[in-house]
Formats: sequence, structure tokens, C-alpha cells
Amino acid sequence: MRIAVLASGNGSNFEVIAQAVKDKEIPAELVLLFSDHHDAYVLERGKKFGVSCESFELKEFSDKKSYEAALLALLKKYDVELVVLAGYMRIIGKDLLAEFPNRIVNIHPALLPNFPGLHGIKDAFEAGVKETGVTIHYVDIGVDTGPIIAQGKVQVSENDSLSDLETKIHQVEHQLYPQVLADIVKEANSKL
Ligand code: GAR
Repeated sequence: MRIAVLASGNGSNFEVIAQAVKDKEIPAELVLLFSDHHDAYVLERGKKFGVSCESFELKEFSDKKSYEAALLALLKKYDVELVVLAGYMRIIGKDLLAEFPNRIVNIHPALLPNFPGLHGIKDAFEAGVKETGVTIHYVDIGVDTGPIIAQGKVQVSENDSLSDLETKIHQVEHQLYPQVLADIVKEANSKL
């Protein structure tokens, strides 16, 4: 199975996925890393792993539709079969979704349906919850609303700062995402 990762920033999730592919824990080919920011640190990580890296920015296009058309053309050029969002901070449009039904997976740093959107960790922290976590789900037309594949819980201690909570969330993400992707790929391979 040919995988593309889409990421906007740091790329710690990309890194654990790339490592799991390299170690053959995820039996797939990581054919493309795309970022919507030319200066995203994830691109440095991509080069280190020898993955094909591409980037372009929304502002380089006349509108969101043409940006997405370019992204779709890129995914087709690389014959991508599964799209993995790893800190990709954009909503996926309907043309892209239609081309990859149940083939776009996202990770969100909260227990959906609670705290969707751009600031899942901070929103949960500020709400004062005792428990939050991580959700991996298929992407649909809504914002963080698609069918849930797996969740991992994180307890919030009284003494935790926002930064402590971020660290705990990322630890769970880094364990859960490669495992879930391995399961998805194995399941798809078994149906070939
Ligand atoms: C991760 O915590 C991921 O769950 C979150 O962005 C972070 C990216 O970290 N995604 C979202 O908030 C999507 N709405 P990373 O760049 O180090 O992988």
C-alpha cells in the first residue's frame, strides 16, 4: 500500500510513522510527504528518511479549490492509496474526499467528539477535564467528525501544566498512530 503523509508543522508523528515503515512494522511504502508550509520542520525529517518531499502553500493559488486540485494531482502522480494526516492543519475539501473514500486518516489530540478543531489540547486543559486523550479517525466532510478508529486516554493531574499535558498527549499519539496504521494496512493487504 502506497502512503502519503500530509503535515503542516513539527512532524513528530510523521517521524514515528516513517520509522515504523522503515522497520517494516507498517507493511507499506511511504511514497510522499507533503506540507502546506515550505519552512515546516517536518520536511527536514522527511529528507532525513529519504522520503520524497513536496510543498506548496494555499497563498500561491487563486483559491482553495485550485490548491486542492493541485494536491489531488500530486497524490495521483505518486499513486497514493492511503492519505495520513499528521498535524495537517487544513480541512480536506469534498473533491479530495471523493477520490479517497475511507482512505484519509487523521489524528486529533483530544477524545472526540470533545474538543474538535485547531486547539484540542489547550481547549481540554482550559476546560479543566480530568481525562482527555487522542483520537484516530477517518476523515469525512465535517471538522473532526468522521468514524472513530481508535482512542487513547490521558489522565490530567492537578499539577500538570499545559506543556506537561502536551507531552503526555504526544507520547500516546506516538505509540497509537503507528499501531493503528499498521492494522489498517494489514487489513487492506489481506483483502487484495
Ligand atoms: C498532533 O498533536 C496532532 O494530533 C495535532 O497536531 C499535532 C502535530 O504534531 N493535530 C491536530 O490538532 C489536527 N486538528 P506533530 O507535527 O509533532 O506531529
